Amino acid sequence: MGMHPKLKSDNFHEFYNLIFGVNKESSIKYLLDHGLIDNSHVGNWEKHLSALKPNSPIWFELHDHFKMKIDSQIINGGHISSKSSLDIIRNYKYASQIFNSKIFSANSNRGKIALDFGSGVYRPLGVAALLYVNGFDHVYAYEPFPIKLDFASISFNEILKNIIDNPTDYNISTISIEELLIRAKSLLVSNLGDLLSDFYSGNVKKVRIGGISLVSDIELIQDNQIDVHFSNAVLEHVSDMELNLDQLRRITTATSIGFHIVDFLDHRYYDDPTISPLEKYYDGYLDEINGLTPSELENKIIENKWKIRKITTQTVPQQILTNDSRSLISRYSPFSESELLEHINFYELKK
Ligand SMILES: C[S@@+](CC[C@H](N)C(=O)[O-])C[C@H]1O[C@@H](n2cnc3c(N)ncnc32)[C@H](O)[C@@H]1O
Repeated sequence: MGMHPKLKSDNFHEFYNLIFGVNKESSIKYLLDHGLIDNSHVGNWEKHLSALKPNSPIWFELHDHFKMKIDSQIINGGHISSKSSLDIIRNYKYASQIFNSKIFSANSNRGKIALDFGSGVYRPLGVAALLYVNGFDHVYAYEPFPIKLDFASISFNEILKNIIDNPTDYNISTISIEELLIRAKSLLVSNLGDLLSDFYSGNVKKVRIGGISLVSDIELIQDNQIDVHFSNAVLEHVSDMELNLDQLRRITTATSIGFHIVDFLDHRYYDDPTISPLEKYYDGYLDEINGLTPSELENKIIENKWKIRKITTQTVPQQILTNDSRSLISRYSPFSESELLEHINFYELKK
């Protein structure tokens, strides 16, 4: 999807703040002043912007869309997940249920240390906050790429505010609301900006905020420390899978369990839905992703001596493959049709 020709990247921040700000009148004025809309559309825009409720699905979609446009340097940080931290943690719970794990059930998180592997550059602390308020003793958020400072701190404060305002919505375990609130409030720190800016500048590689640690270097997590590890939309981005699996092996306990959600679609498709979700199979171009097929990824995990189980939760409709008149490139032609159509897989990893 192209950027509006009248909108220069320099004023995107301002535009972004207006779109998501509370004062919709100034947003409309800005759009008008910059010739981005004309007077005859003002009524529709007013309706549209007032319907933009924070954290609604469309809000997240637009939010992430604009962030992508603002930041052309996202390349090394991977595609932004359009899922909110709450969606992600609900999926983790779902994964733990389909694999019959007791994680998130009565008191099962107590005494355990969790890891959000590849926690994201925009909301690096969101999932960690939710895991922590849901009873884990300590949670590591590992993000190797430079975080987006403003977004990281705004999104963290925002999620804490949401949890404190609506604790029941964020209770995805059986923890008491009273304890969930105590835990959420313990994460409110007055020096968040300073802590994150030291982290952002690289002065420190580990920041501790109450029961959460944000690390940019996995070496800072000790051996045999992690009881439960999670990742969402990460393993399809990792370039050196063997190294990352070795690191995961080092930091996890012998009885640890991991839940990893992998999205195998061509990620360009999310930004430009006019291209095929399977485009990489025809042009071989890998946009931020590593391009591994499900069986290739699974073989790497198995070779690294993990026991693995999987569930495919979403597939691409078969007609998308069969209706395409192009031939698959040789790189992907040996794979079965059903494998190429796997879209989202949930994996359980054990040692
Ligand atoms: C699409 S983001 C997902 C972020 C977050 N988990 C979420 O769902 O919002 C992809 C993440 O993959 C991780 N990643 C990409 N390449 C990596 C690599 N070579 N090694 C380790 N992690 C990597 C980064 O942490 C990046 O934030």
